[in-house]
Amino acid sequence: MRKVQFTETVLRDANQSLIATRLPYDKFEPILETMDQAGFYSAEVWGGATFDVCLRYLREDPWDRLRKIRAKMPNTKLQMLLRGQNILGYKHYPDDVVRKFVEYSVKNGIDIIRIFDALNDVRNLEVAIDETVKQGAHASGTICFTTSPVHTLEKNVQMVKDLKKMGVSSICIKDMAGIMGPKDAYDLVSAIKDAVPELPLVIHTHCTTGLAFMTCLKSVEAGADVLDTAISPMSGGTAQPATETLAYALRQLGYQVDLDDKALIKMADFFKGVRADFLKDGTLDPISMATDTQCLNYQIPGGMLSNLISQLKMMNAMDKLDEALAETPKVRADLGYPPLVTPTSQMVGSQAVQNVLAGERYKVVGKEIKAYCRGEYGRTPAPIDAEIQKKILGDTPLVKGRFADSLEPEFEKTKKELGDTAKCDEDVLSYIAFPQVATAFFKDREAGFPKKEEPKKAAPAAPKAPKAEDLPPMPAWQGHVYYTNTPAVTGSGYTTRAIQPFAASYQPPHLMMGNRDNCTGTFTVTIDGKPFQVSVEKADAPAAAPAAAPVAAPAAAPAAAPAPAAAPAPAAAPAAAAAPAAPTPAAAPAAVAAGETPVNSPMPGNIFKVECKPGQAVKAGDVLIVLEAMKMEIEVSAPVDGTVKSVAVNVGATVNTDDLLVVLG
Ligand code: CO
Repeated sequence: MRKVQFTETVLRDANQSLIATRLPYDKFEPILETMDQAGFYSAEVWGGATFDVCLRYLREDPWDRLRKIRAKMPNTKLQMLLRGQNILGYKHYPDDVVRKFVEYSVKNGIDIIRIFDALNDVRNLEVAIDETVKQGAHASGTICFTTSPVHTLEKNVQMVKDLKKMGVSSICIKDMAGIMGPKDAYDLVSAIKDAVPELPLVIHTHCTTGLAFMTCLKSVEAGADVLDTAISPMSGGTAQPATETLAYALRQLGYQVDLDDKALIKMADFFKGVRADFLKDGTLDPISMATDTQCLNYQIPGGMLSNLISQLKMMNAMDKLDEALAETPKVRADLGYPPLVTPTSQMVGSQAVQNVLAGERYKVVGKEIKAYCRGEYGRTPAPIDAEIQKKILGDTPLVKGRFADSLEPEFEKTKKELGDTAKCDEDVLSYIAFPQVATAFFKDREAGFPKKEEPKKAAPAAPKAPKAEDLPPMPAWQGHVYYTNTPAVTGSGYTTRAIQPFAASYQPPHLMMGNRDNCTGTFTVTIDGKPFQVSVEKADAPAAAPAAAPVAAPAAAPAAAPAPAAAPAPAAAPAAAAAPAAPTPAAAPAAVAAGETPVNSPMPGNIFKVECKPGQAVKAGDVLIVLEAMKMEIEVSAPVDGTVKSVAVNVGATVNTDDLLVVLG
């Protein structure tokens, strides 16, 4: 009887796919001992987005979470997901950081590290695999599944052979979008099993399109050894297929399944309660548990499709959806058929939208796409279209060899810079992975995690909104009000919401509210559940009336000199010293005099970085502003040589197409 084993994903992928990884440790702790008795091949509990979300939203030290799970689950192999050279993020880290991260993951309790690269470039997996093996853990080499004219069976088999040479203990086929059909799976699994019969083969897919159960079954028939599944209440939709269902079906078909049904029943009961709670508070959207076949028609992942739609909506351009959908596969082909997995899926989708909206292909190009075309992400599956590459890069040189080879070691240097802020090496790694978030977390931890209410879903309506007059003014340091495109906030006495739930950890917090035309007046701003009175004035009233505004005095002191190593956080915004309570467009008059050159925003977005200051001489092509639009960084460069006359925006501001950013003289 052939044995099929199970990796339970409820604490990582199902948690991430269905409820944005918002499951706090305390909430699942009571079930860990039961899970440990269930007989899983492994439990995927860490990595992916869990790390970031722990620090950013849950006020948990991710390392501590791992140690606690380890203690409660001594009998089960604990598994994490790692993006190869990108660790848990989207940029490449130097090798020393990758090695340290792997080392400490294993030291804190991880047994199996599933390692993948968005481009399937094995050079980006090498160091992580090597270190995993050195640490005595199990490296699972992963293929990101995708379909394209260049993704042939031969190519996948070659990758598996390369992975074997690197020392992996198993192979995983990762179908992040749920687009692997039963036949795809049967053929691919058969080919891989022929090539490396000695390596266990794991199937990871999502139920998004409804194919998953069939795909899993055909995979098993073709020789797959392990399936990723999620306990039933947290299964289906954008998550994995249900553990119990597959166990039942496979047993019926004569396979050996060594799961403890009693433990599974207990787990299911437990997670029913969890699901109910998250449905109630709105974190779990029933839609994400449904089947959506749209991505089969478009051959793009569901997440990417909804991203595309939301981008177009944001720009009032939903009429361009068909065009954008038609453009997407073209962009993907131009770029050498990257697998559509984060971040390449966002990059391809955003570029397609930009190509359609700009009316000219590759006229507006994000920083990530530029980096991709340079080779910073790795080797593309097929060559990038040469003409387009030239248009995007100009004379920028290409990366030779492996990008990480060009990076200086970072761990010891950062450790020194952090000094006392980091209590241990794990803190240093948290900081390197997510500098701003970790800085805020350390500060919070220092303060003993002062109680605060979850700012999410700030009191749905505002039935109990107190009168603005009755509230204390915001302490001066609590700074800046920025605009955003949330539904208009008009009049006074409204409760607005802090868009960034972690806002208050920053000094000053970025509060984003209203859109600019109707955003003046007195508002009640709730920070960490505490209401404050804020009055907002138009910026063009020059710095005259500071005393009057009991408010959001700007971070007068960039006192908030944040963490040691320059966190490119708010304080970095030099322009921040605008008029008190001044909304974004700083005191700078918007007028552009004759002979001056306005630099306008090419698209709606947020100001991510201001890279120039008044008086600075710039050359045509120099980056002036970095916009964050559609989850990408878009560089806005000087169209001509000149001197910066004024900068009209601050970091954090929301701008629309053609809004003035900088004036060059
Ligand atoms: Co997944």
